[in-house]
Amino acid sequence: MKRAVYPGSFDPVTFGHLDVIRRASEMFDVLVVSVLDNKAKTPLFSVEERVKILKEATKDIPNVQVDSFSGLLINYAAENGIHVAVRGLRAITDFEYELQIAQTNRKLSDGKLDTVFLTTSLEYAYLSSSSVKEIASFGGDISQCVPEFVAKLIYGKYHIL
Ligand code: PNS
Repeated sequence: MKRAVYPGSFDPVTFGHLDVIRRASEMFDVLVVSVLDNKAKTPLFSVEERVKILKEATKDIPNVQVDSFSGLLINYAAENGIHVAVRGLRAITDFEYELQIAQTNRKLSDGKLDTVFLTTSLEYAYLSSSSVKEIASFGGDISQCVPEFVAKLIYGKYHIL
């Protein structure tokens, strides 16, 4: 059974992430979308909230599982018998960062964790969780960026309803 992990912060999940999730889910038997519990960052949504949001947003894709992890991705992958990580590439600006992470993971895992990149669909190439949060914090329209239930939760965090 071919399993892959799609790791990320997903704070919050956007249509860009969901596009990658849907396409990757068609390439693997199981796609584990795993939220990084990064103690160094102060996220808008807790890990538990992000997992819950992802579960709701992917509930129609049967081979997607949602989980969370802390520490190194290579250790999480090894513990779960996963040898492929999936990441989305929006633009050339993502490439350097992603290349470095992918090569580090491959080296650190002795070749046991490889990374597959999916180019984000053009209509979502401009999207990032950070810009979604910034737009929402000023009361802007994020309906093109995230599912409606996610938009409501984001506005709720900024006390904009
Ligand atoms: O959505 P993000 O924040 O761009 O995702 C980054 C992520 C989670 C893929 C990356 O930070 C990660 O895998 N962190 C876990 C720690 C790790 O394994 N670091 C080694 C690679 S440099």
